[in-house]
Amino acid sequence: MMICCIQILLLLGVQLALSIPNFFYHDFRKGNGNKEIHFSGVKLHVDSAQPAVFAATGDNVTLPCRFWYEPELTSPREPRVKWSWQPAAGGHETDVLVAIGSRSRSFGEFRGRVQIRQDFPGDAALVMTNLMLNDTGRYHCEVVDGLEDKSTSVYLELRGVVFPYQHPRGHYHLSFLAAQQACEQQASTLATFSQLFQSWKEGLNWCNAGWLADGTVQYPMTRPRVPCGGDGLAPGVRSYGRRHLQLHRYDVFCFSSTLQVNSLTLGRLLSNVGGKVYYLQPSHTMNLTEAQQACQEDGAQVAKVGQLYAAWKLSVLDRCDAGWLADGSVRYPITRPRRNCGPSEPGVHSFGFPPPQHKHGVYCYKSGDELM
Ligand SMILES: *[C@@H]1O[C@H](CO)[C@@H](O)[C@H](O)[C@H]1NC(C)=O
Ligand SMILES: *[C@@H]1O[C@H](CO)[C@@H](O)[C@H](O)[C@H]1NC(C)=O
Ligand SMILES: *[C@@H]1O[C@H](CO)[C@@H](O)[C@H](O)[C@H]1NC(C)=O
Repeated sequence: MMICCIQILLLLGVQLALSIPNFFYHDFRKGNGNKEIHFSGVKLHVDSAQPAVFAATGDNVTLPCRFWYEPELTSPREPRVKWSWQPAAGGHETDVLVAIGSRSRSFGEFRGRVQIRQDFPGDAALVMTNLMLNDTGRYHCEVVDGLEDKSTSVYLELRGVVFPYQHPRGHYHLSFLAAQQACEQQASTLATFSQLFQSWKEGLNWCNAGWLADGTVQYPMTRPRVPCGGDGLAPGVRSYGRRHLQLHRYDVFCFSSTLQVNSLTLGRLLSNVGGKVYYLQPSHTMNLTEAQQACQEDGAQVAKVGQLYAAWKLSVLDRCDAGWLADGSVRYPITRPRRNCGPSEPGVHSFGFPPPQHKHGVYCYKSGDELM
């Protein structure tokens, strides 16, 4: 009884607020004092044409969702559409946008970045601009018309690459927070389990355990061997479960997407234009400070590890020359393994963190803006 009255009040409120001339309901039965709202057998349906959408950072994406009535209605209606988001990294479901007809409101990080498409009657697709690394997860499209309430979900995944990262001093030096910062400093973000799992399916094999975004510690194994869990284990993503975020130290799995201008420090990605990673070696090899100067003189910066991985994976960068990177490591990207170019598998190969006076070439990064 209470619930039903509150509903009616809410409905009246909505109706007044929107001043829609005719009332929402075909059939409003009072009868036996048991006030029930009926929809005269009209059913609301909601679905999505795509259960998952893949995109890259900086992209504009559309998450499909549509609703319709059965039997079809003669006059159009404006139900309430609500999109919410369950981050892939874990955490609470948060509101993205609420819309009734052409009026809508967006929330939090999504403010000003999302709208409902409304290309045809019943189109409730969510259009999101300037996709960020941490926008991945499950998006929930809920349509409410009176007591009818139907919903569907769309997963948003980013195309990108997962890479293991360790502290310059060696393995198992990173707390969870330090791991998060290490990824951000290298133009990436903590990988989610589904990103690591996808990479494992694509062949990522790493014998050291690393933090993931949800605070668990795991490692992907495609070729079990003795120092790596033993011969007896089946290949898979092995988990140590949740570890203590401050006390325990591991490596980390970072996730990097397109060669976006990465302005994590500015809080927002400012540009939609991708950048470029390239190898630079003037007439001589350089120590770390000379390498930094060389990139600067070329109107660029020393590339971050995430940018080199993204260039290797997404732009198929292949170069058999080891070069300095922003974190003081020396690496090189190989997509076509060949003789005298290191291991027989494709990958970004590493010489670790040599002393800064050692001499190498350098990988520079130019953002899209600097390219223009
Ligand atoms: C995304 O949409 C915005 C505005 O709607 C537009 O300015 C921008 O160029 C689009 N970006 C891409 C990558 O299509
Ligand atoms: C996502 O990352 C941006 C920076 O790229 C940050 O400003 C924002 O707070 C993050 N959003 C969430 C929900 O963590
Ligand atoms: C690199 O070489 C320059 C001289 O060309 C020197 O001044 C600088 O200290 C060296 N830096 C490092 C890190 O060795």
